[in-house]
Amino acid sequence: MLALCSSTTTRTLARTSPALLCRAGSTWAHVQSGPPDPILGVTEAFKRDQDPRKINLGVGAYRDENGKPYVLPSVRKAEELILSQKGDKEYLPITGLADFTKNAAKLAYGADSKPLLEDRIAITQSISGTGALRIGGAFLQRHYPHSKTIYLPTPSWGNHTPTFRDSGLEVKQYRYYNKDTVGLDLEGLLADLRAAPNQSIILLHACAHNPTGVDPTHEQWKQIADVMREKDHFPFFDMAYQGFASGDTDRDAYAVRYFVEQGFQIALSQSFAKNMGLYGERVGAFSLVTADADEKARVDSQIKILVRPLYSNPPVHGARIAGSILADAALNKQWLGEVKGMADRINGMRTQLRGLLVDDLGSKQNWDHITNQIGMFAFLGINPGQVDKLISEHHVYLTKDGRISVAGITPHNVKHLAQSLHSVTSS
Ligand SMILES: Cc1ncc(COP(=O)(O)O)c(C=O)c1O
Repeated sequence: MLALCSSTTTRTLARTSPALLCRAGSTWAHVQSGPPDPILGVTEAFKRDQDPRKINLGVGAYRDENGKPYVLPSVRKAEELILSQKGDKEYLPITGLADFTKNAAKLAYGADSKPLLEDRIAITQSISGTGALRIGGAFLQRHYPHSKTIYLPTPSWGNHTPTFRDSGLEVKQYRYYNKDTVGLDLEGLLADLRAAPNQSIILLHACAHNPTGVDPTHEQWKQIADVMREKDHFPFFDMAYQGFASGDTDRDAYAVRYFVEQGFQIALSQSFAKNMGLYGERVGAFSLVTADADEKARVDSQIKILVRPLYSNPPVHGARIAGSILADAALNKQWLGEVKGMADRINGMRTQLRGLLVDDLGSKQNWDHITNQIGMFAFLGINPGQVDKLISEHHVYLTKDGRISVAGITPHNVKHLAQSLHSVTSS
């Protein structure tokens, strides 16, 4: 038997019981510290800063006009309804709450979606968007016959690479962002999709690309779909911001629905963290378009086999909230208004920030990208030295790549932000 003990206890035990030997050090002595999560690291530094002007634009969560976390009134109402129903706390099935997943699929694919009407979308509840990506990665690793490599845009959400690597897929990149135009590198993107081996797995951000806020136009999505078809690539959509980008859930689902209409059998990850503000409830869904109801049943059975040893079955409370909001017509209408309210507030802050920089402060730089980009984040197009100055001299916290969460800007801090940004970019 091996045990961890001090040298005194080692001597004592060795005298009294020679068979009982203690290891010199801990079993985990060899474990090295890993790097801190880059985004959570920003929040830690922000918390340590005592300056009253400090602003945290690192965190990817919506904040209200006063910079406070926001619980949607429709979520509160749904919770009251759920509480009044005095439901039990039994386990959910492995693939989750059917009343929730059925409506989540409708939200993403559209009520008139052909594969939905033909009952050939396999869908499972997941531990928010991250869990959906992880199930999808694992499913493709096990069952996609043509490739074990997934291509991500450069840059992409920081957790994509570890999530897919841990699912057993190899991760490669395709070009996405053009530093010079602070916009989409469509030529590079299409060239890289053409250069990838046929039938590769391609991860696409459905809307509100994180971290750049740069989305393809409808015309550009069509060009992307054309190349994907030419190359017989497999599209895996990550839709973490449906409704959050434009304020309209149908508009934000454009790319997903267009690809499905074009006959692609897509994989889709959905998150309800941002559009319902259910961050900590971990509500999401993973779905796959299949050929027919029989294939759907077989895919479903394999998803169950993947999920069961991962976490057995998903949590119930958040799914009940999202399920009620999606199913109840009045609550749904209210929620759509609230999503639009969040998107409008974010877009309003974009306009104010750009206006202050250009009109009030007379910045000679082009800041059009702030209002052209979409969703929660803006990629400022500033260099790491300027990011360091924003943090150390102006108490404005953001990630090293120059990404800010526009949701963290408020009428109270936008002036300080604009002045700080002007100062680091004009010196
Ligand atoms: C692009 C993208 N995908 C997925 C997620 C997953 O988020 P969650 O697991 O909280 O739903 C996020 C969250 O920031 C994201 O930005």
